[in-house]
Amino acid sequence: MLGGTGFLGSRIVSRLSSHGHEVTILTRRTDAAEYFRNRSIEIIVGDLMEPDAFIDNISSQDCVISVAMPLEFGRISKSKFAQIKQRTTKFVSTALTIGKKLDCPTILTLGTAYSTKQGQVADESWPLVRTGLTKAGEEADVLIARAKKEGQPLIIMLPGQIYGPGGQFLKMYEMMKNGRSGVFGRGDNHIPRVHVDDCAQAFVLAVEKQPVSESFIIADDTPCTTREFTEHMAECMGLPKPRTIPMFIARIVLGGFLLSIMQIDCVVTNEKAKRELDWELEYPSYKEGLKATIENLHEGTVLNQSGP
Ligand SMILES: NC(=O)c1ccc[n+]([C@@H]2O[C@H](COP(=O)([O-])OP(=O)(O)OC[C@H]3O[C@@H](n4cnc5c(N)ncnc54)[C@H](OP(=O)(O)O)[C@@H]3O)[C@@H](O)[C@H]2O)c1
Repeated sequence: MLGGTGFLGSRIVSRLSSHGHEVTILTRRTDAAEYFRNRSIEIIVGDLMEPDAFIDNISSQDCVISVAMPLEFGRISKSKFAQIKQRTTKFVSTALTIGKKLDCPTILTLGTAYSTKQGQVADESWPLVRTGLTKAGEEADVLIARAKKEGQPLIIMLPGQIYGPGGQFLKMYEMMKNGRSGVFGRGDNHIPRVHVDDCAQAFVLAVEKQPVSESFIIADDTPCTTREFTEHMAECMGLPKPRTIPMFIARIVLGGFLLSIMQIDCVVTNEKAKRELDWELEYPSYKEGLKATIENLHEGTVLNQSGP
């Protein structure tokens, strides 16, 4: 697994290992073995940007899962964007090279970058719209299309925004707690969401069923606007309604690359994942998912906030 120490990846690893799978993780962290010490996880230390240094250390696997993320929280400048794009391309190229070398299916992770108009609902047949930050995936798309054409067995996972006790959501939570967040502009655009535990479960099902040549939208059942999500989050945290942040300030704070993806209007259906992966959601709506997440964070019962 590539990205097995991350917010989503660490949950996939836990589930796979409790289902009896043997998991090998590639990580840059030399202390990862210590973190996973109670589970039989094989660790390979390496950097996805330098595959030649570790690729010969990977033994035969049933499946390669790529959930590594070449992105950090915060404002994205033009030079940072160029670096993210280069890393995105290399991460996908490395994942494809590993899958090819091991001659097994590769699960790649993109996102629900669809643009829908009022009343429309996107499914997996829709084209991904590369705008703002998601343009970082343009070269990776070309590599994926070429690999598909050459017959490499791929499964594409398309999660909505992943929330839960950890990862980038934790940063949002801390900002809201410190009164440093709000709703950008009207906040009436929809962004698909999925709780990290439900998302991890969809990946486990994909590993076990191996539906090659298919792609799956991984989002919950309930379309919600950015305002609805942010206001519900504040309510769960016992805070007043978040303030509205004018768009010109949002542009300064976030930069155009992030702002443009936060403004996309996107409503999706998850029917294919439910039907073909037998995926059942513990949190069909952000309402119960956010409530459970905030309770976890308040109680301090989060064992693993963003991977080891
Ligand atoms: N979070 C979301 O809302 C969201 C939405 C849609 C799609 N996605 C996709 O879902 C996946 C998981 O996201 P996440 O939020 O769980 O990510 P994350 O917590 O930021 O995970 C980062 C992971 O990437 C690994 N990584 C980063 N750079 C690496 C490098 N150079 N070499 C090797 N490993 C590297 C890290 O490993 P080490 O630090 O241990 O090396 C870590 O395991 C990503 O593919 C992301 O694009 C996320």
